[in-house]
Amino acid sequence: MSSFIRQMASDRYLLRIAAVAAIGGFLFGYDTGVIGGALLFVKKSLHAESNLAQQSIVASLLLGAIVGALAGGWLAGAFGRRRTLIAAGWIYVAGGLASAFSQELWQLVGARLVLGVAVGAASFIAPMFISELTPKQIRGGTVTFNQLMLTFGIFAAYIANWALQGVPDNWRWMVGIAAVPGLALAIGMHFAPSSPRWLVEKGRQKEAAPILRRLYKKQDVGAELREIETASKQTTGYRALLRPEVRPMVIVGIGLAAFQQLVGVNTVIYYAPTILSFAGASAGSALTQALSIGVTNVIFTFAALLLVDRVGRRPLLIGGLSGLVVALVVLGIFFHFGWLHTHLPWIGLAALLLYIAAFAIGIGPVFWLMISEIYPISIRGPAESLASVVNWGMNFVISFTFLTLVSAITRAGTFWLYAVLGIASIVFACVSVPETRGRSLEQIQQQLGVGANP
Ligand code: BGC
Repeated sequence: MSSFIRQMASDRYLLRIAAVAAIGGFLFGYDTGVIGGALLFVKKSLHAESNLAQQSIVASLLLGAIVGALAGGWLAGAFGRRRTLIAAGWIYVAGGLASAFSQELWQLVGARLVLGVAVGAASFIAPMFISELTPKQIRGGTVTFNQLMLTFGIFAAYIANWALQGVPDNWRWMVGIAAVPGLALAIGMHFAPSSPRWLVEKGRQKEAAPILRRLYKKQDVGAELREIETASKQTTGYRALLRPEVRPMVIVGIGLAAFQQLVGVNTVIYYAPTILSFAGASAGSALTQALSIGVTNVIFTFAALLLVDRVGRRPLLIGGLSGLVVALVVLGIFFHFGWLHTHLPWIGLAALLLYIAAFAIGIGPVFWLMISEIYPISIRGPAESLASVVNWGMNFVISFTFLTLVSAITRAGTFWLYAVLGIASIVFACVSVPETRGRSLEQIQQQLGVGANP
């Protein structure tokens, strides 16, 4: 049994905290995943028939997320991870309700913009918070737990889309329901402790010690406190990201952030039914097949959770990316040769499932995990924030060029383009990404020569 599950089962305190923070991940998944299905009904209800109107509804959340990821770094440093997550919870409540009660298109777009701010901030502060509270042996598992909740959120959104099809005002329920987990996040985080690493950074060692004692289950936490203190001697802002000695790590974060999106994952997540209908599925069966993509995403993220602290980050990252490239090449072949649609129609779905499985066991969770562990605390807030901004920015670019690309270079050409970007990401991972399994956050920086002498 994985050390993560064993420790979590025996450590209710940690499990409770990680579970509450990971509601942030769940809402990230739910709010991004729900809109594809909801759009079908919003179109009629709010007269949003034009492409521009629909793209604005989807785009607003991604743009808001860029702002949230940018502001989140500063907020997490100034007010702490815990308080920022409480605020995100309340924004989820307000944004969810405002979306549900929108009477005009611009109201929905505005509400999704505001929601996006919470999504962007929580997307990296929740894993950051969890990783700062967790002993190193199981840190990979706990942070991946956040990604598991994210995929579960996407799956829950697909189910909501599917189950609420016949209900009056269904899209209002689809988007409004998210207020409930938002409330749970705000209230739950209210009772969670502050990140001991953040407290030390603020010179509040006295408050950090009892939290560390409870987390590490021992009285003498002097060594842990000193380790954190050494690492947090200098607190800096965004400018520090330009310093030559932190550059390698900043590049790893930005590279992983960009490649995680450049391989085209959200064309699959947001456009799964569209892609399946390209391959000839009817609307109803496309929706059911989309559910299988959602489940596969959850199952393989769970596999990553069990494996990440055992086999390490690099094998999962490189192995997953390789599987993903194979799937993209096959998808391209499938769309290129039209006769395959009639003779071997299952190949399309099989390739999509292989694709999402390979993403979910590798770069999906590994990106979010790595950016929560490779930076010295002095730049952790701004550096994670920058990586998240790049991730949301690329998400925006890929999601809004997909249909245009398909018309310009064909479906096959589009998937082959993502395959080429996938190969570039394998090279990047092999050359630049370090292994971080089993090392304390402070040891990682020392090994990289980043924290020791900044
Ligand atoms: C990515 C999201 C994506 C999700 C799919 C996350 O790691 O950042 O953009 O929608 O995985 O599971």
